[in-house]
Amino acid sequence: MSKTQIAILPGDGIGPEVIAEARRVLEWFVARRQLDVVLGEHPYGAGAYRRFGQVLPKATEDAIRAAHAILLGAVGGMDADAIPREARNAGGLPHVRRSLELFANLRPIITIPALYEASSLKNRVLEGVDFVIVRELIGGIYFGKPRGIETLPNGERRGFNTQTYTSSEIRRIARFAFELARSRRSQVCSVDKANVMEAGVLWREEVQALRDNEFPDIALRHLYVDNCAMQLVRAPAQFDVIVTDNIFGDILSDCAAMAAGSLGMLPSASLGPIDQNGRRAALYEPVHGSAPDIAGQGIANPLGAILSVAMMLRLSLGRPDDATLLERAVGAALALGARTPDICEPGKSPVSSSGMGAAVLRELDRLG
Ligand code: IPM
Ligand code: MG
Repeated sequence: MSKTQIAILPGDGIGPEVIAEARRVLEWFVARRQLDVVLGEHPYGAGAYRRFGQVLPKATEDAIRAAHAILLGAVGGMDADAIPREARNAGGLPHVRRSLELFANLRPIITIPALYEASSLKNRVLEGVDFVIVRELIGGIYFGKPRGIETLPNGERRGFNTQTYTSSEIRRIARFAFELARSRRSQVCSVDKANVMEAGVLWREEVQALRDNEFPDIALRHLYVDNCAMQLVRAPAQFDVIVTDNIFGDILSDCAAMAAGSLGMLPSASLGPIDQNGRRAALYEPVHGSAPDIAGQGIANPLGAILSVAMMLRLSLGRPDDATLLERAVGAALALGARTPDICEPGKSPVSSSGMGAAVLRELDRLG
């Protein structure tokens, strides 16, 4: 049996900066907790396109297919627009997600009292917030056909995309959400736009039918996406598991991030179906993206990437205790006052990305 391979794709923008810190954390677990993994770094994104003429070079594609888990920084960035559309579509993040069949995207949102000040929401609204957005990741309007930009006979241009879901796609992600809810507080909120879209009508019917037939122990409710966006800032503590489609999940997770204090705090896991060996493809990445405006300054918050490592330890590496240890170390570093600029109160002095990484490592040494 070959050793457990982790494919690390630093990517573009602040990706390499946050991944450097996440990698130090992974290496701490290798050195100190006998984590038996091999780490390999591979080019991906706009930088890879510049050097190799491909966003996703063949060698990187082979490496992520062979890997037990993938850790990704971010893709896209300053010169992403200079990449021809075909090259971008052929190797971009939606393509990677789809080619590895990563249908389930998990975005946990947890508030930490030390970060209440960093949030735009009131303290009392933030108390007890602990929920997960389960986003369908390889269907819907991101992939639906027909799509394109065409020129009409009258010379006008028309851009179009298609929102589409089949019943099996809906049932697969709903099942995932119900099973996850069983390990939590057994509440699922399904989000759609059934008042306007047929794809939403089907979504709602299928989710409800699955709940009635197989998950009677789960409390299920449905919200329209506009109402959900409002509820996320009005009373985010009401949620346990939110299940929604690809584009609504994209939008709602950025919105929900403010409860955690900053988009820079959010980790994610994207999971494929379980195969006959009991394994599943898995990609871990911070939610924040490449943030070209702050890239290269060493100020990006690495905690989204570091907490993604915690998700990897729990979901791919069978190390739930180490995952909890890492989350506790992050909490302790924050409690002691370590703040990157995105979560720093005015008048206090922030630490750099590597300063934050070092603060987490110090707490790992102390707690581990
Ligand atoms: C995300 C991002 C991606 C998405 C982009 C980079 C394609 O915003 O992971 O939320 O829209 O899915
Ligand atoms: Mg997004």
